[in-house]
Amino acid sequence: MKVLFVCLGNICRSPLAEAVFKHKIQSEKFGKNVLADSCGTSNYHIGDLPDERTRKNAAKNGVEMSHRGRQISASDLKEFDYILAMDRSNYHNILNLPGADSYHHKVLLMRAFDPEEGDEVPDPYYGSEEDFQEVFDILDRAVDGFINRIRKELL
Ligand code: 4NP
Repeated sequence: MKVLFVCLGNICRSPLAEAVFKHKIQSEKFGKNVLADSCGTSNYHIGDLPDERTRKNAAKNGVEMSHRGRQISASDLKEFDYILAMDRSNYHNILNLPGADSYHHKVLLMRAFDPEEGDEVPDPYYGSEEDFQEVFDILDRAVDGFINRIRKELL
């Protein structure tokens, strides 16, 4: 199984979701059968490391990050089994890629798996340290919810 996490810049939310997911599945029986990646809908940060504030927050929460930014392409729709968008703008941009109609069923909002109320993972780029921690807490819960979903498919 292949899972792709998507946000706008691919330096804050989606690389963190990828890192949290990879960290959590290490202790799952199916861990080695699942591949994860992340990307952005924009071309703003191609080749960049995650934002320093995201990396510091992740480290504080025991999660390592080494991703480099890349932009989504239409071929990702075919290649990945789950494509998880951080917010509604990302979601619509993914579905506007050429040929996306055939892959509509693969594209979901990340917070569809958050047991707590909320629709989007908020963009922390212009936010404070508290906003980065809020993003971490949301992703920690939503990734758990997503793992519960795929566990049923993989075991
Ligand atoms: P991300 O956050 O989509 O969570 O990576 C952002 C990063 C950069 C920008 C916007 C959002 N930017 O405008 O450069």
